[in-house]
Amino acid sequence: MKKIFSCCAIPITAMFGLYFGFASSTVNAEDVNKTYKDTCELCHGTDGKGSEAGKQFGVPDFTNADYQKSRTDAQMKESMTNGTKNPNYVKLSDLGVDAADLDALITLVRGFCK
Ligand code: HEC
Repeated sequence: MKKIFSCCAIPITAMFGLYFGFASSTVNAEDVNKTYKDTCELCHGTDGKGSEAGKQFGVPDFTNADYQKSRTDAQMKESMTNGTKNPNYVKLSDLGVDAADLDALITLVRGFCK
């Protein structure tokens, strides 16, 4: 009985995932990775340390544990939503990023620091 249940659980979850994916464009890891690659990498670099241009702009090093500890998710979200005092940092909606993607992007940014 237990075995049958666990067999069915995965396809059902996958189907729901797909359904919600189409219905409400819920973000999934792939979309967010693409957003990062298309929109963020230019400044934050493939590895999160910051590109040459990004360093000129004053990007933080996402691989730095001290930096990660210094910012809460809420603070990051605030910066991403409204921009910061740094005139080189625009709010992400100006880059065409959906506000619904911010949490997933924060998770991705946190992931640069292992
Ligand atoms: C034009 C360059 C540029 C682009 C493109 C860019 N950023 Fe940034 N980002 C910056 C700079 C500069 C800062 C530092 C801002 C500051 O310290 O005030 C920053 C800071 C951040 C922070 C830290 C905010 C904090 O409060 O500590 C996060 C998170 C972040 N960016 C995520 C992203 C994501 C996700 C994208 C892509 C959707 C992105 N950025 C695109 C330049 C950029």
